[in-house]
Amino acid sequence: MIRGKKTRVILFAGKGGVGKTSIAAATGISSARIGYKTLVMSLDVAHSLSDIYDLNKGLMDKNKGEPIEVDQNLWIQEIDVQEEIQRNWKEVYQYIATLFNISGIDEVLAEELAIMPGMEEVSSLLYINRFVNEKVFDVVILDCAPTGESLRFISIPTTLEWYMKKVFKVERLFTKYARPVVQRIYSVPLPDDDYFESLRYLFERLQGVESLLTNPRITSVRLVTNPEKIVIKETQRAFMYFCLYGLCVDAIIINRILPEGISDVHFDGWKGTQSRYIDLVEEYFSPVPIFKVGLFSNEIVGGEDLAQLSKMIYDNLDPATRFSTENPHKFTKINGQYVIIVRLPFITKEDVEVSKSDDELILRIGGFKRHILLPRKVAHYNPLGAKLDGQNLVVTFGGENDEKGNQKG
Ligand SMILES: Nc1ncnc2c1ncn2[C@@H]1O[C@H](COP(=O)(O)OP(=O)(O)O)[C@@H](O)[C@H]1O
Ligand SMILES: [Mg+2]
Repeated sequence: MIRGKKTRVILFAGKGGVGKTSIAAATGISSARIGYKTLVMSLDVAHSLSDIYDLNKGLMDKNKGEPIEVDQNLWIQEIDVQEEIQRNWKEVYQYIATLFNISGIDEVLAEELAIMPGMEEVSSLLYINRFVNEKVFDVVILDCAPTGESLRFISIPTTLEWYMKKVFKVERLFTKYARPVVQRIYSVPLPDDDYFESLRYLFERLQGVESLLTNPRITSVRLVTNPEKIVIKETQRAFMYFCLYGLCVDAIIINRILPEGISDVHFDGWKGTQSRYIDLVEEYFSPVPIFKVGLFSNEIVGGEDLAQLSKMIYDNLDPATRFSTENPHKFTKINGQYVIIVRLPFITKEDVEVSKSDDELILRIGGFKRHILLPRKVAHYNPLGAKLDGQNLVVTFGGENDEKGNQKG
């Protein structure tokens, strides 16, 4: 039990339909049964938590997007972006709606458009920050939106901080002095002090959320995948981005594996394909722990199905365990060159062979192979060299770009 210490935050991310919500919900059930006060929060606008827990939908609607207790120690929350706007964004939202309004769009559409992308994400970040700082729950489980949007979610703290530093002060100064002039020339209203005050308050409440998300003692990401080509490619990409943003992936969960017992020849092709991709998952993500989950004989609905699912994933392990507290590789830039640092404990130089194909770096270590998907910018270059630095393999990629984008030297 980790009770009494800091809140644990566990994100479940992956492509649509792979089983994120089921697995997040199952993790919530076993976490609550161990005795942790647990919240499962849905960040996907297409909320399905209450369906998977088999709850009365009206119950959720009445609660206006606040956490609701559904069992002993178990709370669930489906963020309601309209409610969040009323609570947190009113002034910002009103200003933007006004802008759209005066440009001749009808009022209903203007209000719809004024829901800026990222509001669900910021809203949930506000909650997470509060829940962790005030230690409201022992475990907070996040059922993320499909990969693309969940990546936007993790990039928001960085973007906001940048915006605050670079843009906010300038913009505010600008409106203060420019208002009288601009107002005379254009009919566009400028944001008033309430807008800035509301933005400032919002940023204040987001303080520290980035360090919370990048602290592997607090936050872990679990990537849910299926043994299929396209799903795995997306998992690799997600893994890379989470690494880039400094979040720690502590488990990969391969879901929907055909059970051994199936002998119908119709599934022979599938079984072969799946077993090849399961091996590939090891090459892609090792040493991050990999959990395997079989395909159930039916859809997964309600407490008992979920408890069974959780048992299949974690067996008797505490689901709040930190299965890994560091990512196996880091991307950085040193002297204008991209560098990848790969942790390879217990390895000597003779063991490692480095090569690159398309957008992947491939390491052969004795009988093992390790694939690392490269960020787009890095993938343009070839590895210049690799050296062993203690337990780390340091791979350096091509030099600086000149003006035309050609590689120098
Ligand atoms: N291992 C499994 N066996 C059988 N059905 C599953 C399994 N995992 C997920 N499902 C079913 O697949 C559907 C999609 O799962 P869901 O958890 O909603 O995916 P996501 O949240 O990633 O979109 C649901 O109907 C769920 O019951
Ligand atoms: Mg879902």
